[in-house]
Amino acid sequence: MASVIIAGVGSYVPTKILTNEDLAKLVDTSDEWIVSRSGIKERHIAADDEATSDMAIKCAQAALLDAGIKAEEIDLLIVATCTPDYLLPSTACVVQHQLGVLPHATCFDISAACSGFLYALEIAYGQLLTGRYKCALIVGSEKLSSIIDWSDRTTCVLFGDGAGAAVLKKVDQPGIGIIGSDLGADGAMRELLYMPAGGSRCPASPQTIANKDHFLRMKGKEVFKHAVRVMEKVAREMVEQHHLTLDQINLVIPHQANIRIIEALASNLGLPLERFYINLDRYGNTSAATIPIALDEARRAGKIKPGDYTLLVAFGAGLTYGSTLIRW
Ligand code: UT7
Repeated sequence: MASVIIAGVGSYVPTKILTNEDLAKLVDTSDEWIVSRSGIKERHIAADDEATSDMAIKCAQAALLDAGIKAEEIDLLIVATCTPDYLLPSTACVVQHQLGVLPHATCFDISAACSGFLYALEIAYGQLLTGRYKCALIVGSEKLSSIIDWSDRTTCVLFGDGAGAAVLKKVDQPGIGIIGSDLGADGAMRELLYMPAGGSRCPASPQTIANKDHFLRMKGKEVFKHAVRVMEKVAREMVEQHHLTLDQINLVIPHQANIRIIEALASNLGLPLERFYINLDRYGNTSAATIPIALDEARRAGKIKPGDYTLLVAFGAGLTYGSTLIRW
């Protein structure tokens, strides 16, 4: 029985830091409000000339180094992002060229917002198991600062830029690596978190620009409630499906959107908060990048040991959601 393992991980955040105090100079907000309502203290913001692919390349290089694998060995490259360099071509094609991944590789982007990294993991897992591909690189990279309305205090305080990547390969050893995943989506809630213009439904026009329709819109309270509900559901289902108890999960890496969402999830699951990896205070919500950045940090901090179970759990625009169980 073969398994698919995470052979290496890497992450990157831009150097510029935007603090809550900096934001209080832009909009009517305060450090006290942002910390108490979200847990976020600061976030990293990409340079004007730094695109999603540039961040993707940096974290991908770190993941390849960690895995001891050369770019030429990658035959499947997936970028999860809701802030691609262009609508076409895919950001994955830009990354492929710059990174030195060979032309025979399959390269594409996926759009599952904050759940994107888990969706990409599931696709790569399935493809590697078939034997059709040998080595996959999956990246979650976001320049959310490019779709934020910096005059809207209800959204601009929550998001940041960054990228994380993982190298996946098949090994002939049963029971390790990606044990299972449970993904879902509820399109009925698509307008709780979306960007109205710039796609085929509402192409760019002077009117869409005047309306600020090229910026992210969110009904925060509704998203919050659904986030807690669906993440609890998929976390429980994943553990039960694999005949484990929640207690056996050594580390939960949740999507980093709001500390209160993570606290509610921990409380509903009956797990101590210490069992959750949390770094949203330093990065804010980097959408598809939160989980791979956290995974990279947790590994480097020695929080993941051989034999451990790690549960990744996410939710995002769509509304999409999912959980992935990993054994190291
Ligand atoms: O990856 C998925 C991304 N999305 C999410 O995860 C969002 C989930 N939702 C949330 O994280 C929370 O709902 C928010 C952080 C967005 C908001 O927290 P909340 O506790 O739900 O606050 P609220 O929206 O009920 O707003 C409370 C008050 C309002 O004033 P009034 O109506 O009570 O007078 C807001 O206008 O806080 C006001 N407010 C702010 N005040 C200072 C909203 N944003 C700010 C702000 N600074 N930045």
